[in-house]
Amino acid sequence: LGTSSSIHGNFLQCLSQQSQTSIPVYAPNNANYTSVLQSTIQNLRLLSSTTPKPNLIITPLHESHAQAAVICSRKHGIQIKIRSGGHDYDGLSYVSDVPFVIVDLTNLRSVTVDAENNTAWVQSGATIGEVYYNIGVTSRTLAFPAGICPTVGVGGHFSGGGYGSLLRMYGLAADNVIDARIVDVNGRILDKKSMGDDLFWAIRGGGGGSFGVVLSWKIRLVSVPPTVTVFTVAKTIEQGATELIHRWQEVAPKLPKELFIRVIIDVVNANQNGDKKIQASFNSMFLGGSENLLTLMKERFPELGLEREDCIEMSWVQSTLYFNGFPIDGPLDVLLSRAQPKRFYKAKSDYVQQPIPQIGLEGMWRRLLEEDQPVVIFSPYGGRMSEISESEIPFPHREGNLFKIQYLAYWEGLEETEKQLSWIRKLYRYMAPYVSKSPRAAYLNYRDIDIGQSKNGTATYLQGKVWGGKYFKSNYERLVHVKSKVDPENFFRNEQSIPSVA
Ligand code: FDA
Repeated sequence: LGTSSSIHGNFLQCLSQQSQTSIPVYAPNNANYTSVLQSTIQNLRLLSSTTPKPNLIITPLHESHAQAAVICSRKHGIQIKIRSGGHDYDGLSYVSDVPFVIVDLTNLRSVTVDAENNTAWVQSGATIGEVYYNIGVTSRTLAFPAGICPTVGVGGHFSGGGYGSLLRMYGLAADNVIDARIVDVNGRILDKKSMGDDLFWAIRGGGGGSFGVVLSWKIRLVSVPPTVTVFTVAKTIEQGATELIHRWQEVAPKLPKELFIRVIIDVVNANQNGDKKIQASFNSMFLGGSENLLTLMKERFPELGLEREDCIEMSWVQSTLYFNGFPIDGPLDVLLSRAQPKRFYKAKSDYVQQPIPQIGLEGMWRRLLEEDQPVVIFSPYGGRMSEISESEIPFPHREGNLFKIQYLAYWEGLEETEKQLSWIRKLYRYMAPYVSKSPRAAYLNYRDIDIGQSKNGTATYLQGKVWGGKYFKSNYERLVHVKSKVDPENFFRNEQSIPSVA
């Protein structure tokens, strides 16, 4: 690979020797290379001609193909990037500064629901929409607590945490993983028992890409009532959004677990002269019927003024359509679609432990109004999230967090990139006094290489702690310990991977 075509040839030969069946491999001169590469690149910022491209893309059809990819890459000293759904915000699953190959799990995508035992086996290349679809067609009262957008891939999502509207009731996707199959650095397939407690702990929230290729996950399905209720109530600043959000910070994290109310803040047109204004949408799911929801809201958050007309009752799987703007009475198969709206964007995250004063919120509004398409999402914590200990899995953001902030900048063309990156970084600096400190915590699945990175995954323990401390807090130490044990030579690496100190 790289400059040497003989290594390239030896690598391909190794692949064919390792497998009895033919492994799909795409080189740049293959007619399908570009479409395979681009298929799941979600961020247009990373789809440009200057983005480094892989020397090969391997798309395993069987577990043994993924084993062969690991064995041969290691043998020939080739860097691999593992990709499932390709939704990594900074492209760590398909970009590298050194010559590399992508192991793309898109074909390993089966979802097998066992409704009798309330479990499912899900391969990493499935999307969470496929998981929801398969649960939804099996049962009205089973669900799984993962993310909102159906095209997100299981492999990255589960290994980095994964949350959605069931977060306050059931925690993260990673909290509900009960077994997994992984290809380790020696090319062996291990399950929960054979990988041992440490490695099984690390892959549930410690991030894909540091420990091996996770092939599949056994998940615990959770119970939901046959009817859930959703609503979205939008308010502008003129309609009291600032005061409402200020109040929401105190109320939302303490509500009963069944109620999840997030706030999506964006900029909308104020009139036809191009003036803009801030709008806050209170976007919610309640595990129960609308009568109970209305009573609860009157008692706990009357300021929002929720009315019966705002409430829509439906099944849980229909709520996954609702949160994505699909018609709730339409066919469920939209959840199976892998077509994704690609956009230019950059995101960052924060955790909030003390309510942000109104003056702080107002400063945020002023900054949002400088841009055309900013979005900020406040997602409430509390409930189940506060019951799980910080060290149960590597994801550490539990009790004491009121909510998480996600900041997003969207734009239209590559030439705008630098301006937008500098705008979102400025907003992030502005927020520093209002959010968690020492470390300023971040959510791994909202990948942000601004908070620290190493060239080609070669960080020392202390360098890795710069981002590892933010994503994992004190769990960073145990992750380094596991990494050093299972992958001492640091074969599985990326710009924000866990270093080995072996
Ligand atoms: P991708 O394939 O890009 O992988 C991400 C990382 O995991 C990379 O480092 C990769 O190497 C590694 N990896 C992937 N598969 C692996 C495997 N099988 N074994 C080992 N390592 C592997 N999050 C959330 O919690 N809730 C939400 O609602 C949303 N919504 C959302 C919407 C949209 C449009 C985007 C783009 C993203 C989100 N996310 C999210 C964030 C999402 O959870 C995060 O980007 C996941 O890591 C994506 O997983 P993929 O498999 O798609 O990514």
